[in-house]
Amino acid sequence: MSVAAHNAATETESAADSPSLPAHRFSSRPIRSFVLRQGRLSPAQQRYLDEMMPKIGIPYRPERLDLAAAFGRAAPKILEIGFGMGEATAKIAASHPENDYLGVEVHGPGVGALCKLIVENNLTNLLIIRHDAVEVLREMIPDGALDRVHVFFPDPWHKARHYKRRLIQPDFVALVAAKLSPGGILHCATDWEHYAEWMLEILSASALKNTADGFAPRPAYRLPTKFETRGTRLGHGVWDIVFRRPQ
Ligand SMILES: C[S@@+](CC[C@H](N)C(=O)[O-])C[C@H]1O[C@@H](n2cnc3c(N)ncnc32)[C@H](O)[C@@H]1O
Repeated sequence: MSVAAHNAATETESAADSPSLPAHRFSSRPIRSFVLRQGRLSPAQQRYLDEMMPKIGIPYRPERLDLAAAFGRAAPKILEIGFGMGEATAKIAASHPENDYLGVEVHGPGVGALCKLIVENNLTNLLIIRHDAVEVLREMIPDGALDRVHVFFPDPWHKARHYKRRLIQPDFVALVAAKLSPGGILHCATDWEHYAEWMLEILSASALKNTADGFAPRPAYRLPTKFETRGTRLGHGVWDIVFRRPQ
């Protein structure tokens, strides 16, 4: 599906959230972990989006992607879901030139902002797909192709009636597990205690194995993200959940 068609589908979904519309009309729609708000792009973000995405973006296509060919080398492959404005993503990629990073995000201004950081920092080990990461995983990523998956501060969907929108669900974790190589890591972090417990419970019931006894110490590679910094300012704690696919 093209980004335009994808956006149109998501707009229909937003209409479905209206309490005045009968739910059964939309019963076959997928439950997504995001509501697409286009937000305002700065002129620079728009320019980078228009000029650079064709070069450093991989278009969404419902077909398997050859990751080694996309990055032009064999190196550990790390997928980040929901990089937001991408500051931490760019810093992590710059600090680890030995790894290749694929960032997946739906938010236009964030994609534009990360494009700008990639160009300014001359990063050759970071590529972007602007699309729903669930579909990217399902359709584009070959089984066993990823060494690590980062899910840092996903939308907490803190109202009980919205828990179904949380990205971390049993089916999603099973999908990630299939895409990890043996020994590969799923690393989640959140500043929302209820979501942290939820993640721990779902991952503990999956095929993946905990690398820690409960929550994990923060791995050195995870640099502070924008949402983490905001959460810390509000007095929130931070929880890391790091699970491994058995060998
Ligand atoms: C709360 S923000 C956190 C952003 C960033 N990781 C940080 O810590 O600053 C969550 C981000 O995930 C993105 N997101 C949510 N569901 C997604 C999905 N299914 N595919 C791609 N991006 C998604 C949202 O657009 C949003 O930018």
